[in-house]
Amino acid sequence: MHGGHKLSGTVNISGSKNSALPILAATLLTKDECVIHHVPDLSDVHFMLQILDHLGAQVERASGTVTVKAEKVTTEAPYDVVRKMRASVCVLGPLLGREREATVSLPGGCVIGDRPIDLHLKGFEALGAAIRVVGGDVKVLAPQLRGAVIPMTGKFGSTVLGTDNVMMAAVLADGTTVIDGAAEEPEVVDLANFLNKMGAKVEGAGSRRIIIEGVKELHGAEHEVIPDRIEAGTFMVAAAISGAEVKLRRANPAHLATVSQALERAGYRIQVTVNSLTVLGNGEPHSIELTTETYPGFPTDMQAQMCALLSRGQGISTVTENIFPQRFMHVSELKRMGANISLENNTAIINGVTALSGAPVMASDLRASAALVLAGLQADGVTEVNRVYHIDRGYEMIDEKLNALGAQIERVKVKG
Ligand code: EPZ
Repeated sequence: MHGGHKLSGTVNISGSKNSALPILAATLLTKDECVIHHVPDLSDVHFMLQILDHLGAQVERASGTVTVKAEKVTTEAPYDVVRKMRASVCVLGPLLGREREATVSLPGGCVIGDRPIDLHLKGFEALGAAIRVVGGDVKVLAPQLRGAVIPMTGKFGSTVLGTDNVMMAAVLADGTTVIDGAAEEPEVVDLANFLNKMGAKVEGAGSRRIIIEGVKELHGAEHEVIPDRIEAGTFMVAAAISGAEVKLRRANPAHLATVSQALERAGYRIQVTVNSLTVLGNGEPHSIELTTETYPGFPTDMQAQMCALLSRGQGISTVTENIFPQRFMHVSELKRMGANISLENNTAIINGVTALSGAPVMASDLRASAALVLAGLQADGVTEVNRVYHIDRGYEMIDEKLNALGAQIERVKVKG
């Protein structure tokens, strides 16, 4: 990519990856047909559809709409299907809810840090399931599932997929389940809305306390996935970095409040309408202090992108990561581009520089790769981002969307 091109125009935001994945898993809860719209075309979504297919569901896809009919399901999701994507763990809840048993390969290590699923498993145990970990697989079995009061907060706060997983098991349990300390993310609300369309009785999603009245059976439903707030946030930073005016259409400004506030503190102007945001970039950011938190706090999935923005500018910014304390793989690559960043525990201290220079850099994970693309947009010369398969996991056609706004990005196939 060639840096220094001003971006301007309008970009359409895709459906949310982190909403589509658990919603697709939830289709396993019924024998009937489910139709999901606004599903983004991402490799992670392909992995989830492969898992559903492997579990016996009929899956059809026509551009952004996915139709799933899980008339019969098997209950084992093996390593070679699950290892590609951690979020596969969220088929455990629906299978346990429907079939009262499930075997899923335990997710392995992750570059962004330690990611245990102990809270998921404790939740299933509270519903009456027996848990065994054998040969790298987690086996859950519950001849009977009974509603319970379940704490869902760990050392780093609430868990998003943990809340989703337990909610999907509890909708078919006998009696009432209360999830205390639940994650409040918009993606959790979107899943609860879909479950209620299937005939579930979920209340309080979006708050710290979710109450689920178990039902005997669920039916098919049709649903449109919410816009991707992290893709939207990434394009807001791209607009800020490149100093022009970019309008984001099909975005939900309410889900981006803390991202907008952070950009406004850094000196950018944001104009909001019901379903769009316009960012007016004006070049270098002011230095700010930023701390990631669970929703509605500042999202950890936007942390790397903000490091890229704050690398060029005036003064000293600090970025503290409270959800995945080691999530700073992007820092060493940004330093290869001339950024002046030091790490102290879970805080990046960013001394703004006047310019970044293009360089070959290596993507390590989804959001780190987005940060490197954003750094490349503002760097002098050419930046070569390697291993872009990371970015295709969570951004639909990001290079085409940025080029349509005026960037100069070329996707080059690497041999071997
Ligand atoms: C979801 O992951 C997202 N993934 C992540 O986005 C996001 O970073 C994360 O939530 C936090 O917002 C999807 O929705 C598919 P957590 P999840 O459980 O649910 C600890 C991206 O870039 N924890 O909320 O797996 C955990 O280690 C991805 O799109 C436990 O200790 O994250 C972490 O420190 C990356 N025990 C914290 O809680 C548990 O049982 C929050 O993790 C579960 C989690």
